[in-house]
Amino acid sequence: MISVLFVCLGNICRSPVAEGIFKKLVKEKGLEDKIICDSAGTSSFHNGNSPDPRSTANAKKNGILLNHRSRQFTEKDAEDFRYILAMDNSNFSNIQELLSQKEGKDGQRYMMRDFDPNAKGADVPDPYYGAGDGFQEVFEILDRSCTVFLDFLIEEHGLDKIS
Ligand code: 4NP
Repeated sequence: MISVLFVCLGNICRSPVAEGIFKKLVKEKGLEDKIICDSAGTSSFHNGNSPDPRSTANAKKNGILLNHRSRQFTEKDAEDFRYILAMDNSNFSNIQELLSQKEGKDGQRYMMRDFDPNAKGADVPDPYYGAGDGFQEVFEILDRSCTVFLDFLIEEHGLDKIS
């Protein structure tokens, strides 16, 4: 199984949406038995909570149903997940800091927007404190990035050549 973890700060706005979009894309490609994914937050602020209602409503408007409870990213995630994708630079450094003590990691860490052809390596903006529009902008960024990331995985693991 190829395992993917999407990480943001609160695990209620950005990463659960990335998870929901990516799951749908994986299903559409018939790759559910090859790729699994989850999401987590670098903070414990919202542990156990459902996604932000604004994220849920916006995702639903775009045909994605979110089904996730917030949880904090742990060191063990680095063992459990081969690909870890951070939503912004701050999440990325927090992950690196937490894992800096660990040796021999062979997992791969990326920024979500390393896969966004429109703004490679940029931050996925945090919509939590902003106006409602931010959620649709974030959705479109994540939709684009998840699509390219899945194509990357398919190519990297030759998933189009095996049945
Ligand atoms: P997320 O957004 O990292 O995309 O889930 C946030 C959610 C909550 C907070 C910050 C960002 N907060 O400070 O509670």
